[in-house]
Amino acid sequence: MSEQLHKPIMVKEIISIFSEKKGSKETFLDTTFGRGGHTRKVMESFPGIEITALDQDPDAIEYGKSAFPEEVQQKKLKLAHTNFANEDILGNATFDGILMDLGVSSPQLDTATRGFSFLHDGPLDMRMNPQQPLTAEEIVNTWEERDLADLFYHLGEVRKSFRVAKAIVTARKEKRITRTKELADLIAKNLGWRKSGHHPATECFMALRLQVNQELPNTEKGIRKLVQKLNAGGYFFVITFHSLEDRLVKRLFLALEEYGKPLFKKVIKPSKEEISNNPRSRSAKLRIFERAP
Ligand SMILES: C[S@@+](CC[C@H](N)C(=O)[O-])C[C@H]1O[C@@H](n2cnc3c(N)ncnc32)[C@H](O)[C@@H]1O
Repeated sequence: MSEQLHKPIMVKEIISIFSEKKGSKETFLDTTFGRGGHTRKVMESFPGIEITALDQDPDAIEYGKSAFPEEVQQKKLKLAHTNFANEDILGNATFDGILMDLGVSSPQLDTATRGFSFLHDGPLDMRMNPQQPLTAEEIVNTWEERDLADLFYHLGEVRKSFRVAKAIVTARKEKRITRTKELADLIAKNLGWRKSGHHPATECFMALRLQVNQELPNTEKGIRKLVQKLNAGGYFFVITFHSLEDRLVKRLFLALEEYGKPLFKKVIKPSKEEISNNPRSRSAKLRIFERAP
């Protein structure tokens, strides 16, 4: 289990908006527990609240079980290893607040063996749930050139995706591509550095991660199902990190009009102060859905 921490994003904004919500604040669902940063703040700010926390990464749940005292887990915090799109585990429970903080946690990104990062060399893995079979290595070494190009184009918005796909297919004829650094160097060689400080493999790695973890379909399925678990007047907070996700959430919140509506028209972004304290927050966007009272 990795002990690294994760700085919770826009947590002040979430606490303050949830505080102002009318009606009860007794139950909360954290669908993406990570290192429990948001859960901890919600618990501190609303002492009587009962929280259910999910994560598809067993490492996150193991961390939660060791970090929160047993007494707290008996009375106020239920932790479960599951994908939020598979909400059957929740039974008839309903919630006053739900949070979905998408993407990867800092410990996932910074632990080389998880294979998410082009900065730390590791196996080409990228599974949030290591119990699932599909890895990034499998995609990179078995997909057709055209399918790889489509993946980088659609999920990474990489304009020269065909060039990367061709380089991968050529390289893997010589030797299977198994390491993150191998792939990152290959992409950098073929796309070149356009902006200093922005690794050319960033978008291709993101596309692979989204595909391995089925992030967009799971987000859609999860939001559609979980919105029905919100109590009247309840708030659903969603934090996204890139435009494809944000567009999906914006569209879904409007499409779910039979249940309620977006609380604000405008998206909420981290303050300058938060971005300077936590550069990983810079691309975050928060949207909130209000279940009809
Ligand atoms: C950005 S982190 C959350 C950090 C957390 N809010 C905190 O403050 O510590 C995202 C977490 O969500 C988990 N996750 C992503 N997609 C998921 C899904 N479909 N079901 C359950 N957990 C998911 C990841 O494994 C990761 O631990």
